[in-house]
Amino acid sequence: MKQQLENIRLQALSSLDAATSPAELEELRVKWLGKKGELTAVLKMMGKLSAEERPVMGQMANSVRAEIEEKLESRKTQIGAAVLEAKLAAEAIDVTIPGEAVTLGHQHPMNMVLQEVKDIFVGLGYQVVDGPEVELADYNFTRLNIEEGHPSRDRSDTFYFTDDDSVLLRTQTSPMQIRFMENHKPPFCMLAPGRVFRKDEADATHSPMFHQIEGLVVDEHITMGDLKGALISMMRKIYGADSEMRFRPHHFPFTEPSCEMDMQCHKCHGTGEIDGQVCSTCHGEGWIELLGAGMVHPKVLESCGIDPEKYSGFAFGMGLERMAMGRMRINDLRLIFDNDVRFLNQF
Ligand code: PHE
Repeated sequence: MKQQLENIRLQALSSLDAATSPAELEELRVKWLGKKGELTAVLKMMGKLSAEERPVMGQMANSVRAEIEEKLESRKTQIGAAVLEAKLAAEAIDVTIPGEAVTLGHQHPMNMVLQEVKDIFVGLGYQVVDGPEVELADYNFTRLNIEEGHPSRDRSDTFYFTDDDSVLLRTQTSPMQIRFMENHKPPFCMLAPGRVFRKDEADATHSPMFHQIEGLVVDEHITMGDLKGALISMMRKIYGADSEMRFRPHHFPFTEPSCEMDMQCHKCHGTGEIDGQVCSTCHGEGWIELLGAGMVHPKVLESCGIDPEKYSGFAFGMGLERMAMGRMRINDLRLIFDNDVRFLNQF
């Protein structure tokens, strides 16, 4: 029996020394000290011993148990520390490794100019509004005093959705004049930027989709002078105090009188040619048409429930891409929509 206890002691201690995980330690505890363990099995045989031997063996068994328990505790501490160490090493973060650089984009040049224009008009007290791109012919044409049969209504110019030509992709932002006047009483100043669509072949200055910014001001005693003042102050803010522009008489069914405003071509500086060749940016005109404008037609005011005897107003609609081309010195409109990063990175 003494030999048995000695064997248990030696084997238990060496197996505990060899253990590497808390789970293994627990297994060994059950094996050596558990109710069905080796030590218990030996103690069960104590009954067979003589009265003199029993206390001696009992004492020895207790000291073996104590020794194994002590070893178990110390191995627990050691293995626990080793496990923690390994975990910390595995989870270590090297803060000195360089991170992955995030390349920051920036606004599209056209949006930059849109933002500038909005800021200027918001500063003048204008309210910025948004409206539908799929529009009723009623708003896009009829209520703007554009009669049946007008060339702009033609199927070769306008994208229609329905056979009866009643629903279309808006060809201008001017229907926003009607939509706004339906819901607001003068005085007001409104600005409505947005996409418009026309069946145009794409070239250096045309695209079947482009952006306009509509402006509308209605109050008592509004004159053409107010219109010119607003547009000139906007142009000077964007293109500089020395920028050249001109107003030409024009015709729009929804304004009377009407005009167009051009800016001097930034490419040929108004000469219409570069190195003896016709300037491709302005097609030799020397000027780039930027916007149409005029005094809101009394019929349009009236159809929106505004008394034209009391109120007057002006409206304008400008091409945002053309503004951006002048502002950013871009000589081909298609570059604005190509989204070539080599182009966009220049701004
Ligand atoms: N909507 C016109 C166009 O697209 C421009 C315009 C707007 C003219 C407002 C007068 C008043 O050409």
